[in-house]
Amino acid sequence: MAKIKVALAGVGNCASAFIQGLCYYSIFTENPVGLRHPELCGYKPSDIQVVAAFDVDNRKVGKDLAEAIFAAPNNAPRVIDVPKTGVTVQKGPLLDGVGENTRRVIEPSGQPEVNVAEALREAGAEILVNLLPSGAKSASEFYAEHALAANCAFVNATPNFIASDAAWAKRFENAALPVAGDDLIDQVGSTTLHRTLLKLLSDRGVKITETYQLDVGGGAESLDTMDRTRETKRAIKTQAVASTLPYKAEVVAGSTDYVDFLQNNRDSYFWISGVYFCNAPMRIDLKFSTVDAPNAGSVLFDTVRAMKIALNKKLKGAILPVCAYAFKRPPQMLPLEEAEEMFKAFVKENGSP
Ligand SMILES: NC(=O)c1ccc[n+]([C@@H]2O[C@H](COP(=O)([O-])OP(=O)(O)OC[C@H]3O[C@@H](n4cnc5c(N)ncnc54)[C@H](O)[C@@H]3O)[C@@H](O)[C@H]2O)c1
Repeated sequence: MAKIKVALAGVGNCASAFIQGLCYYSIFTENPVGLRHPELCGYKPSDIQVVAAFDVDNRKVGKDLAEAIFAAPNNAPRVIDVPKTGVTVQKGPLLDGVGENTRRVIEPSGQPEVNVAEALREAGAEILVNLLPSGAKSASEFYAEHALAANCAFVNATPNFIASDAAWAKRFENAALPVAGDDLIDQVGSTTLHRTLLKLLSDRGVKITETYQLDVGGGAESLDTMDRTRETKRAIKTQAVASTLPYKAEVVAGSTDYVDFLQNNRDSYFWISGVYFCNAPMRIDLKFSTVDAPNAGSVLFDTVRAMKIALNKKLKGAILPVCAYAFKRPPQMLPLEEAEEMFKAFVKENGSP
């Protein structure tokens, strides 16, 4: 089966986990632990081929991807040695890629920018995955624009509104291209865990009165969130969590701080308070620790393969089953189980060539 040709905008921690994952799962093919779908409609992760990548950091631009993914300030764990990929990281335009805080850790390259649409066409990219920092709104829009110009499907992992923005979704529809987003859901992330806990409790007759979820991380993305997207992230996460309850409760969910020594780890704290039989009180006070970048890997693999299916079937605009399954802010928010069912039905319906 033909390879799925993918380009990456941003060679940060998520890109590192993605590239290492491609290598890892091409070796560990028997019983591949950690993947939700070792095969999706006949596509294995080994069918995904990264053909182009763009960044702005001096320590990444001009380097082979295999080297660039381990360059500072990336701190995703090294789980495998990646052989040379033959793909050199190209310099994209900086725009708002660096924020007040990340200025401390990113070294903008002085090399000339490439024409991104042209580079995508030359590489034969079919899908552009946007892995820019969350505060890079204009840069995200720039890459969406160039995906359209290069006839590429677009996957927006950032919390900037592209797939969930009606005007952008329409532009992809008019160009007969699929788009998916916004703000990737982690494989085992705090939003999903929080939603699942609240659903379990409310299904069992508990009346939740208050709940919060706060987290700290040590990746460059956590640093960027601090000064640029704290409010947006808080709004997206709070809305996703609150939508789980069939009634109104006090809900707060958001990212709180950057702790450099945590490296790429993330600690999430959950507090849930409610009442059950005869108003008896209950509380949950929980800490959940994960590694950030690998948490994006399996979901990105599924998203990329689902977008290839969308391309095969000539589907266009925002692909709701993919958006609802893999993103925190889809164009339409659905309960977790409904999103799962919709994705399964999408795969079943469109899976065969
Ligand atoms: N589990 C997860 O890590 C996860 C989950 C959900 C969403 N996301 C989203 O994925 C995105 C990427 O996360 P990350 O941890 O890899 O971030 P990161 O900060 O490690 O990487 C971002 C990369 O983009 C580069 N960059 C900045 N401006 C650029 C520009 N104009 N053009 C090209 N490259 C540019 C930076 O140099 C850096 O290499 C974020 O928006 C984040 O919110 C991640």
